[in-house]
Amino acid sequence: MHILSLFRILIHILNNPKWKVAMSALKFSAEPKVRLTDDARAIDFDQLRALQSETTWAQDRTLFDLQRAVAASDLVITAWHGSTLVGCVRVLSDFVYRAVLCDVIVHPAYRRQGIGRMLVEEATSHPRLSRVQKFTLLTASARAFYERLGWKRYPGEGMVLERDQQ
Ligand SMILES: CC(C)(COP(=O)(O)OP(=O)(O)OC[C@H]1O[C@@H](n2cnc3c(N)ncnc32)[C@H](O)[C@@H]1OP(=O)(O)O)[C@@H](O)C(=O)NCCC(=O)NCCS
Repeated sequence: MHILSLFRILIHILNNPKWKVAMSALKFSAEPKVRLTDDARAIDFDQLRALQSETTWAQDRTLFDLQRAVAASDLVITAWHGSTLVGCVRVLSDFVYRAVLCDVIVHPAYRRQGIGRMLVEEATSHPRLSRVQKFTLLTASARAFYERLGWKRYPGEGMVLERDQQ
């Protein structure tokens, strides 16, 4: 058979709606099943340090300092794929007016799959933070990411998410 005819048959198959549905199901099932938890006792500090070493600002943190930072945080949410730590966010808050998000990190192999969005939205919608009016954070490199999530740019590295007042 001529190579062009083979190519046409292939295009025809790929354009078949049934095939497209099968492909999207395949894509969906290939996505990692990620579980979030706010139980800081679940944290594996060796994995957390490895995750943080993927950033420019937290690559030199010691295990001891990380343990202190987690212990002093008001909320820590981690994302897990099986037993692999694939993301985290720490929050410092007064639980009424303000909350500051720190160390939002997704494992490089798991980026662009919605995990960063899940982590940030899990933090800002967390029941313990339901009264908080304003969320803030500092980032130089991920401003566009937070904008996709509805945050506003502030001068310098600031980003702000303001809750609608009822
Ligand atoms: C920034 C970071 C947390 C994003 O995590 P992620 O899991 O890849 O993000 P998501 O897949 O949830 O993306 C959510 C949305 O933001 C967009 N997005 C993700 N990273 C982006 C980036 N660097 N620039 C612009 N948009 C970005 C996605 O396309 C997606 O848009 P959509 O929902 O409209 O399709 C991750 O890239 C990371 O860990 N970076 C290194 C650490 C860092 O810079 N942290 C932020 C400073 S605290």
